[in-house]
Amino acid sequence: MTVLVTGGAGYIGSHMVWELLDAGESVVVLDRLSTGFEWAVAPEAKLVVGDVADRDLVGQIIRDNHVDAIIHFAGSIVVPESVADPLAYYENNTSKTRTLIETAVREGVPHFIFSSTAAVYGGAGLEPVREDARLAPESPYGLSKLMSEWMLRDAGLAHDIRYTALRYFNVAGADPKGRTGQSTPGATHLIKVACETALGKRPFMQVFGTDYPTPDGTCMRDYIHVSDLAAAHRLALQRLRAGGESLVANCGYSHGYSVLEVIESVRRAFGRDFDVRMGDRRPGDAAAVVANSELARKELGWTPQRDDLDLIVNDALAWERILTTKNSVRN
Ligand code: UFG
Repeated sequence: MTVLVTGGAGYIGSHMVWELLDAGESVVVLDRLSTGFEWAVAPEAKLVVGDVADRDLVGQIIRDNHVDAIIHFAGSIVVPESVADPLAYYENNTSKTRTLIETAVREGVPHFIFSSTAAVYGGAGLEPVREDARLAPESPYGLSKLMSEWMLRDAGLAHDIRYTALRYFNVAGADPKGRTGQSTPGATHLIKVACETALGKRPFMQVFGTDYPTPDGTCMRDYIHVSDLAAAHRLALQRLRAGGESLVANCGYSHGYSVLEVIESVRRAFGRDFDVRMGDRRPGDAAAVVANSELARKELGWTPQRDDLDLIVNDALAWERILTTKNSVRN
């Protein structure tokens, strides 16, 4: 049995590949390397460069490798980009996922794990959000993922395929062993931006809004370590293989940190100050987005191991340093 990981050369996907290999699984990666990197794929995994919507290619991979599960990360993830070019998001995230599900059904792959997002909920509040909260995506990105969840639900009712959709909150950090991390240039994510600023890769960073209805006026998010997220997928795979029913579950730690708390943590990890400027609100940001993760803990038996902001930040900063070396070697 082999697990097919789409987007396995990307940030979360490359951690998933290591998680599976560490657990003794056989892994094949399908990635078109548009934002991922060949070097990010663990050498023990087989890499196929191609598109998830290429029916013939995916069918061949499934048959050649006896794939019994697909973990589908490939997709576009930049919220403002999805607002500017919604049809590209519906094509790349929704339409291609539809084709991939169709191929999985045709080839008789029984298990499918899907990378979903907290963006399906829309403006959440300070209260942790449960899976049965109102679904009201505020961006084409969120809607493109929600439509994929719904296609999986309906395919699961009609065909012999069971799925788990995991709704990620703010994924951050890097492999504690330093094997992979977030490497895409031009990142917009807070922890990555703060680490880049600390290391002098950016002259300064901004806090987007200081007048939110939160304790210190800055936005609150539920930051989850990418290794804990990968572990949740591995547990979801185990559960599906053991006959578990289809499931949609949040992946977060159920508590939030403000932008200023995150920056303080990066200052602690770095040991020195760096230039942080207070700025205006960024359009589209909700004041707070925090997961209720009881369902994942109960159904998957998931017990996060790195639920600590300083740990997340330390791993992110360590990776940012490794990346500096990698890039200078390559240049
Ligand atoms: N922020 C700053 N300065 C920066 C970068 C971010 O103040 O330079 C703030 C943002 O305004 C926000 C918080 O830090 O309040 C977190 O921002 P991120 O860009 O790191 O993450 P988001 O919460 O905007 O987005 C994340 C995921 C998306 C997902 C979304 C769902 O990255 O993929 O959560 O809620 F869709």
